[in-house]
Amino acid sequence: MFKRTHHCNELTTANVGQTVTLCGWVNASRNLGGLIFIDLRDREGITQINIDPAARPELAAKAATLHEEYVISVTGIVRARPENMVNAKRATGTIEVEGTDLEILNAAKPMPYNLEDPTASEDIKLKYRYLDMRRCGLLANLRYRHKMTKVIRDVLDENGFIEVDTPILTKSTPEGARDYLVPSRIKPGLFFALPQSPQQYKQLLMVGGVERYFQIARCFRDEDLRADRQPEFTQVDLEMSFVDQDDIIAVSEQMIARTVEAVTGKKVQLPIERMTWDTAMNKYGSDKPDLRFDMAIHDMGAIFQNTAFQAFQKVLADGGVIRAINAKGQAASSSRKVIDGWTEEAKLFGAHGLLWLKVDPDGKLSGSAAKFFNEDETAAMKAELAAEPGDLLLMVADKWSVACAAMGRVRLCVADKAGLIDPSVLRFEWIVDFPMFEWSEEDNKWNAVHHPFTAPNDEGWALLESDPGKVYAKAYDIILNGCELGGGSIRIHQPERQAQIFKALGISDEQARLRFGHLLDAFSFGAPPHGGIALGLDRFVMLLCSAKSIREVIAFPKTAKSFDLLMDAPDTVDKKQLDELHIAIVNDTEDK
Ligand code: AMO
Repeated sequence: MFKRTHHCNELTTANVGQTVTLCGWVNASRNLGGLIFIDLRDREGITQINIDPAARPELAAKAATLHEEYVISVTGIVRARPENMVNAKRATGTIEVEGTDLEILNAAKPMPYNLEDPTASEDIKLKYRYLDMRRCGLLANLRYRHKMTKVIRDVLDENGFIEVDTPILTKSTPEGARDYLVPSRIKPGLFFALPQSPQQYKQLLMVGGVERYFQIARCFRDEDLRADRQPEFTQVDLEMSFVDQDDIIAVSEQMIARTVEAVTGKKVQLPIERMTWDTAMNKYGSDKPDLRFDMAIHDMGAIFQNTAFQAFQKVLADGGVIRAINAKGQAASSSRKVIDGWTEEAKLFGAHGLLWLKVDPDGKLSGSAAKFFNEDETAAMKAELAAEPGDLLLMVADKWSVACAAMGRVRLCVADKAGLIDPSVLRFEWIVDFPMFEWSEEDNKWNAVHHPFTAPNDEGWALLESDPGKVYAKAYDIILNGCELGGGSIRIHQPERQAQIFKALGISDEQARLRFGHLLDAFSFGAPPHGGIALGLDRFVMLLCSAKSIREVIAFPKTAKSFDLLMDAPDTVDKKQLDELHIAIVNDTEDK
């Protein structure tokens, strides 16, 4: 085989006259009678080769047998292209290589789909992921990802972190999703769980005296998938001893800013601003608000304290809230159909409806509910929302959590419609002071919002039994453009404190011993105060390279239904394998 002298993006007029060898795939070949042109592609770019049948009939005959995606190596002489043939769109557009020798390294069957068709179905592209990788932006995204992890490793190394691998075959962890289980052959009936995160191991590393740990860690969660979720994903996971929240935030910010600058050239203004969870929920209706635009949600409760409008009266009497936004500009002139669409969105979050009012040119309000409000209420509403003629006021009255979530969603719809979101902006924010617990109707008990190892804030300990809903945690999330990029917390490091939290979570002493005995034991042998954070690497890459889904930044992702179409997994296994694992399939009617 001829070994390459250059990559296919490298040659310029400076190389004219040189004999070079290039290797790669046939991107396209054209036989124009007089000349055969081959676009040769490798990882780096494309170079045009030409072969003259008159001068080299044998070579031309060989070149004529080439098809798309054949693997070849070509030797030739670099020639400047005539001025009218220069291809300004290509890095090598000023030259071409006059082929003098050609070796076919491998043939290729006709491609299963047009590799450059942007409308090709995602399923076929996932099935032939290695072909998709050759041409579409995927390879660029993988490079981007590589560069990011390299910077992350450098920054953490400079800050004294040690990269440690933690086990993949482990015990169920309490991150809140379903576990992937692995049956034990040696211990019939027992199972390993794949880690939802290295949470407990990294805490044990702190007990072990590692002090600063990080890992580019693979995590597994069997949960419903969305554009920013995969069953198997990667975290930049870190943990530090003898620190408080500010220390973890400072290191994370440095890592984020350096990474962003290295791959996008953009500067992240440090320190990144912080917002409490309460503010995020009340003002933006979400714990991961998109802050690239403002359009804050307003609390209208006080205005309607004595309203005659029964629907509002009832909601307020039941302890609910009335929340509103003012959709200005382009979104304000939205059609009834568009507003109905937003209403449906609000309903997805449990809202009964979305009330809308238009501000007429004379300043009066019109809309289905306008007649229910008296003059004072109308004036106060307009003042609160700084309403001007032409504006559209949108309101939800419901219990607090529903009103927040519904208005949060409507806020995003309106911003999208009004074109308020600048896709070139990277807007980070820390969301701090999360509640420690959330009430689960399903489980009829308090559950941890973050995870059960998170420390409440100092005042919270006193409220654990009397008012768990009022306990805030030393927990923080980093958000970027409305997406949760990462989250972490200061941990509990004393066994008796940890037992108190388990109790608040309705985990009995016995259950706590069974599930977390190893951790409680470890804490009893001198655990340092510690805390950490994990950033979703796939999400970070996705947001920086403006991909629409994390599937675009993962080499071999699963489908939205958690299938690996390339390997055809999950798959059946031999009976012998099942027998060895003491497993019998009792219901295999489910379609694969
Ligand atoms: P958490 O569960 O918040 O915290 O996860 C941290 C970050 O991981 C990313 N992430 C995901 N990315 C892709 N697909 C998924 N299914 C998925 N699930 C989560 C998110 C998220 O912010 N052990 C704690 C961290 C800690 O306390 O230090 C943890 O895992 O970007």
